[in-house]
Amino acid sequence: MRPRVTIVLGLQWGDEGKGKILDVMASEADWVLRAQGGNNAGHTVEIGGEKFVLHLVPSGILRAKVSCLIAGGAVVDPAGLVREIEGLARRKIRTQGRLFLAEQAHLVLPQHRAVDQGSEKKRGLAKIGTTGRGIGPAYSDKATRVGLRAGEMALPAAELARRLRERVMAHNRVAGSQGWEKISATKTVREIEKAARFLRPYLADGVTLAHRAVAGGKRILIEGAQGTFLDVDHGTYPFVTSSHCTAGGACTGTGVRILIEGAQGTFLDVDHGTYPFVTSSHCTAGGACTGTGVPPTAIQRVVGVLKAYTTRVGGGPFVTEDGTLGHLLHGMGREFGSTTGRARRCGWFDAVLVRRAVQLNGVTEMAITNLDGLDGLEKIPVCVGYRFERKILQEPPVESSDWARCRPVYRVFEGWCEPTTEARHWKELPRRARIYLSAISQLVGATIGIISVGAGREQTFRHG
Ligand code: GDP
Ligand code: IMO
Ligand code: MG
Repeated sequence: MRPRVTIVLGLQWGDEGKGKILDVMASEADWVLRAQGGNNAGHTVEIGGEKFVLHLVPSGILRAKVSCLIAGGAVVDPAGLVREIEGLARRKIRTQGRLFLAEQAHLVLPQHRAVDQGSEKKRGLAKIGTTGRGIGPAYSDKATRVGLRAGEMALPAAELARRLRERVMAHNRVAGSQGWEKISATKTVREIEKAARFLRPYLADGVTLAHRAVAGGKRILIEGAQGTFLDVDHGTYPFVTSSHCTAGGACTGTGVRILIEGAQGTFLDVDHGTYPFVTSSHCTAGGACTGTGVPPTAIQRVVGVLKAYTTRVGGGPFVTEDGTLGHLLHGMGREFGSTTGRARRCGWFDAVLVRRAVQLNGVTEMAITNLDGLDGLEKIPVCVGYRFERKILQEPPVESSDWARCRPVYRVFEGWCEPTTEARHWKELPRRARIYLSAISQLVGATIGIISVGAGREQTFRHG
């Protein structure tokens, strides 16, 4: 029997092709529940050459029979969500009665965007490279228990306005000293009230909806956003931060150069790599459960989505980064961010990282996308270990700023040098592509369930 409840999440640094895989899998689903994150996400689905980029709305929305829930673990920019729903309506995608917004979800307010953008500006060249959508500050307010929730959009207008004004005043009191833009309370109230009027029919108790679906035996996909190494616990969040910057280290005008005391008492110079280069939610399998309220015991399958190579947007360590590969992929018109349009950093497949992601998420099968990105290459390196302080590591160092000092140990595979984009069956892949995929599966310790050889729905098949 097919599993009823499946988590679909990213095994790298986001943009693995989750949107595409979810859309394909949604042909056999009743519900898609978006677990966490906000409109920092950009999930692309291509149908017959038509491209949709979803930010908050679950990727099942393009399948008419699927119901969708933005669950309580997500943070929702009300005006952003309205724009997204209106954009879908213009393209004849109906959301009424099949898209629900959990009352439990926290709101992203204009002041959160101001804090996000102001803080990034202050960090200068050492910035995290956030999407500027206010995600971190919204989660921060949730954790410090001063956030507003989507359910509050149903309050009488005067009470909602009072709560909003209170938040804006608290922000404005400290904004000047922090270098954040001050916010107009009147504009905030106007923006949120307008969005609230539009969104009220979509509001629902997310946990009850999810539990009814589970109890009713519905086929459920839980959609993760971002990726394992952007997770606030398991991502590249170092112990050493800029506060350890010593006078000798000096923040130079060319970027932060930070001195870290090495094991032998020597000082090692690390460029960047020391800020918390993560998002602010739990992008791993545990986050899918807390975000939706679906208990771990209800989960039967975890599909880990990954690219046949690696990409990352924003700052942070990236052991297998390779400028030549990036140049090649950008030249093909691919690997530009779906949300911000930024060119993604590119690198070779990193089996050390993905092996860890498989462990962290309890992956039961993988969906490998973008195999076709490697079609033209004669040699394809795969990172099988990290060289660090004269040792070869099989696991990433616990301190992620050490990642910047790891050198990849590569095993080089022969490229297949022919297009894979027409393949619709494992046997139709070039022999060397099959060898490459099988080796990846063995290196990371997970089986391959789905292979994707193009952005289109039809360019997807099951392994075997
Ligand atoms: P997500 O955030 O994980 O949903 O991924 P994004 O949508 O941000 O980025 C993935 C990009 O790869 C999008 O442009 C997709 O259309 C595209 N894509 C997904 N799978 C494939 C594939 O197998 N081949 C090609 N060429 N593009 C793909
Ligand atoms: P999807 O769901 C790739 C990255 C940002 C930045 C860091 C923190 O499309 O895979 P944030 O705005 O979240 O505070 O930024 O996280 N980031 C993503 N990178 N894909 C995403 O989402 C991302 N969402 C956030 O680039 O480095
Ligand atoms: Mg994306």
